[in-house]
Amino acid sequence: MYIANEKRYDRMIYNRCGKSGLKLSAVSLGFWKNFGSSGRFDNMEKMVHTAFDLGITHFDLANNYGNPYNGSAEENFGRILEGMREYRDEMCISTKAGYEMWAGPYGDRNGSRKYLTASLDQSLKRMELDYVDIFYHHVFDPDTPLEETALALDNAVRQGKALYVGISNYNKAQTAEIMKIFRELHTPFIVNQPSYSMLNRWVEDDGLDDFAAENGIGLAVFSPLYQGFLTDRYLKGVPEDSRVGKGDTWIGNQLDEKMLSRLGRLNTIAERRGQKLSQMALSWVLSNKAVATVLIGASRPEQIEENVRCIDKLVFSEEEKREIENILCE
Ligand SMILES: NC(=O)c1ccc[n+]([C@@H]2O[C@H](COP(=O)([O-])OP(=O)(O)OC[C@H]3O[C@@H](n4cnc5c(N)ncnc54)[C@H](OP(=O)(O)O)[C@@H]3O)[C@@H](O)[C@H]2O)c1
Repeated sequence: MYIANEKRYDRMIYNRCGKSGLKLSAVSLGFWKNFGSSGRFDNMEKMVHTAFDLGITHFDLANNYGNPYNGSAEENFGRILEGMREYRDEMCISTKAGYEMWAGPYGDRNGSRKYLTASLDQSLKRMELDYVDIFYHHVFDPDTPLEETALALDNAVRQGKALYVGISNYNKAQTAEIMKIFRELHTPFIVNQPSYSMLNRWVEDDGLDDFAAENGIGLAVFSPLYQGFLTDRYLKGVPEDSRVGKGDTWIGNQLDEKMLSRLGRLNTIAERRGQKLSQMALSWVLSNKAVATVLIGASRPEQIEENVRCIDKLVFSEEEKREIENILCE
């Protein structure tokens, strides 16, 4: 299967990221979970090969992805890339820094030039890359002047270590502030990475999506399946090998009767549309005009195969929109 599929680009949609020249696959693969040193390498490799073969060109990493949080996802991705080096120019690879990474004041959660510069060098080494396509500041830091964070990202570009820069977990006001600095510096700032899904609509409440669309910034949306809730994973109980089954309490605590009833009704609408719930949830996020790509997580290749087919049905009728809205607004 791997790379035998010469038609892979016919099976995907590529969206321009904001008003930049960069196109991202509408579905991207994220490496937060299931790519760390506690996972099975052959499964990780198969997931990357499957994704690439299905036309996914965008791979989203961060310094702290993997379990434990020590760069193991980047290391494993580097190992996988060893067998795919000839395809480097067909891939868009992103990484980030900003959350806690190593001991002491320079690897702590922050946005300093010291941390971002050192971390990007470490990421490049782990993945054995000369440059990443997108380098993100992972989370807004109220204690570091935004000029310093912006300059650190800008410098990464000037040094040839990143082609574009992005921010993640920045709200509208924070995005507006750093955007002004990037514009003065002429930094290729093209993307904001927020969480967003049918079950988490803060970007709409905040107005970040409209702001991004108006200002030519693309949104790369994380956790579009609400970490697996918006799939058939939990409709008939909690599988042992699922994220909740493995003890993730943050989402596990939200899986109550009310949630299951909502998911069940959303699933009925998905079935009527001829989609899986996962596909409908991704189509719904992609139907927001500000969104360039959905960053999906996966624990097995089959989930990726299922999820990419969301692009076959991106349009919702007015009736479907109303029905979905009623369920989400309860
Ligand atoms: N910038 C940030 O702060 C930030 C934060 C979080 C994530 N991210 C990025 O976003 C990516 C995705 O995040 P996420 O993993 O939370 O995304 P998600 O797509 O909402 O959830 C992924 C999980 O859903 C389940 N799943 C996926 N497809 C399925 C299917 N077809 N059927 C059944 N279950 C399915 C799998 O869980 P099981 O393990 O249960 O199979 C999978 O691990 C991350 O890898 C990372 O790149 C960024």
